[in-house]
Amino acid sequence: MASTLSRTLRIASIAGVRAGIRVASARTPIIRPGFAQKSAVRAFSVSRATFDEQPRLRLGSPAPNFKAETTHGPIDFHEFIGKSWTILFSHPADFTPVCTTELGAFAQLEEEFAKRNTKLIGLSANGLDSHEKWIEDIEEVATNGNKVGFPIIADPERKVAFLYDMVDHQDLTNIDTKGIAFTIRAVFIIDPNKKVRLTMLYPASTGRNTAEVLRVLDSLQTGDKAGVTTPINWVPGEDVIVPPSVSNEAAAAKFGEFRAVKPYLRYTKYPTELLKK
Ligand code: BEZ
Repeated sequence: MASTLSRTLRIASIAGVRAGIRVASARTPIIRPGFAQKSAVRAFSVSRATFDEQPRLRLGSPAPNFKAETTHGPIDFHEFIGKSWTILFSHPADFTPVCTTELGAFAQLEEEFAKRNTKLIGLSANGLDSHEKWIEDIEEVATNGNKVGFPIIADPERKVAFLYDMVDHQDLTNIDTKGIAFTIRAVFIIDPNKKVRLTMLYPASTGRNTAEVLRVLDSLQTGDKAGVTTPINWVPGEDVIVPPSVSNEAAAAKFGEFRAVKPYLRYTKYPTELLKK
């Protein structure tokens, strides 16, 4: 119990210090819901305070820094980001079916992300030895001949997972054999200023869509460069939206032609020229 408690506190400390908030004390209540799986529940030691005191990562929040072991060696996350965009994505566990397909799909699109000055980094709640063996499987069955060229963080104690609030909260039965809550499928898009710009959270049962990750990255980068927003189901090349904060006069000066469907809904052509600057 002592080591379990200290682990709980260590995790809470990271989160608490980051967020500048109270850190869980030894009196923190331990959740012991009355599930049928008694042994798993007995081992389940992540306190309510730990859940509640994770940093509140909102869009625009600074991306918390951390040091971690990865399949490409130890990293300091902010140094890893450098001047790039970064996509940090988590998985519940190595050698699991949906995760294997997802890692393979990200590996296949790595070149597309690189063209957009974007680094990929995965996270899975297992150790390095496991990751390295799992990568062999992924490359055998899921990458269509590509290598897994990006690092995968080893996070067996869920330290990074807690820091980024990637741990399942609702479903307390969703715990591993050691009684630790599974990481969910989270995606964080972080810009070169190290700000969180977009998050996606998927349950363990549902694989993500890498084309959507690329699409939203394109939307963010187009918006930043051209000062536009993008409508539902937009893909690069299609018309974009002139934000309401831009007057008609300013829109005409910046974009040339635009069409107003309503005074607040104005479209202009894909801003090819502005994106070249
Ligand atoms: C999967 O990748 O298939 C998976 C992993 C953990 C829990 C459920 C599904």
